[in-house]
Amino acid sequence: MAVGIFDSGIGGLTVLDAVSTALPEVPLVYFGDHAHSPYGVRDADNIYDLTTKATERMFDAGCDLVILACNTASAAALRRMQEGWIPTDKRVLGVFVPLIEALTERQWGDNSPPREVGIKHVALFATPATVASRAFQRELAFRAVGVDVEAQACGGVVDAIEDGDMILAEALVRSHVDALKRKMPKPDAAVLGCTHYPLMEAEFAAALGPDVKVFSQANLVADSLADYLKRRPEMIGNGTENLFLTTGDPRHVSDQATQFLRRKIEFTAA
Ligand code: DGL
Repeated sequence: MAVGIFDSGIGGLTVLDAVSTALPEVPLVYFGDHAHSPYGVRDADNIYDLTTKATERMFDAGCDLVILACNTASAAALRRMQEGWIPTDKRVLGVFVPLIEALTERQWGDNSPPREVGIKHVALFATPATVASRAFQRELAFRAVGVDVEAQACGGVVDAIEDGDMILAEALVRSHVDALKRKMPKPDAAVLGCTHYPLMEAEFAAALGPDVKVFSQANLVADSLADYLKRRPEMIGNGTENLFLTTGDPRHVSDQATQFLRRKIEFTAA
């Protein structure tokens, strides 16, 4: 039994952490495509090629269900994968829908027509590729009417986090929040639309101020996965152990992950 969790780098560990707390009995296979991170500055075809290759590797490791814990891959590649690439006995899910369901006050899988919701002005912080895809606005429009979205492409933040340069990451967060506020002075809610950004959640919240509700994905995705596996227990594949794979330098990535998760994590070469 194993569920795959994919990201371009360490950001998806925010989701892995929440999933392993919610579902401690489910073995998880994590794949970090560190050799090709960041994805946020790549084009859609390239993101599709990299994401399918990584997903294939997780299928080989015994996963029948893979979570793209990467908004950039979910935005730029998932729909195309679902249109014909995914084998019929496998599932690949993204991270947008649980977030948008929470934002639009919906239960899991509520596909009723779009309606008015409490939140009217949403600030979206995401990578350049996610912003360019407009996937967030598209998913939102299926569920809500009258919500104004202002998106800020947060160039540089993922690189700074991957390099462990938190001082630069913090400065960039502040400048991206300032830029967003020049376009939308009073958002009611902010969406951290990249799984690396929960690592900077306190900085986003401080720069946005106390009146802005910050939506972050890790727990929302974990709850939605727990719910999915209750209904589809057969989708837990035949893998039996936790596995951490990287296309980067396993020793460096293990140190980064151990520091971040505060438990010993050992990555091996993908
Ligand atoms: N953590 C990723 C996301 O959620 C990827 C960021 C990147 O590689 O640019 O978008």
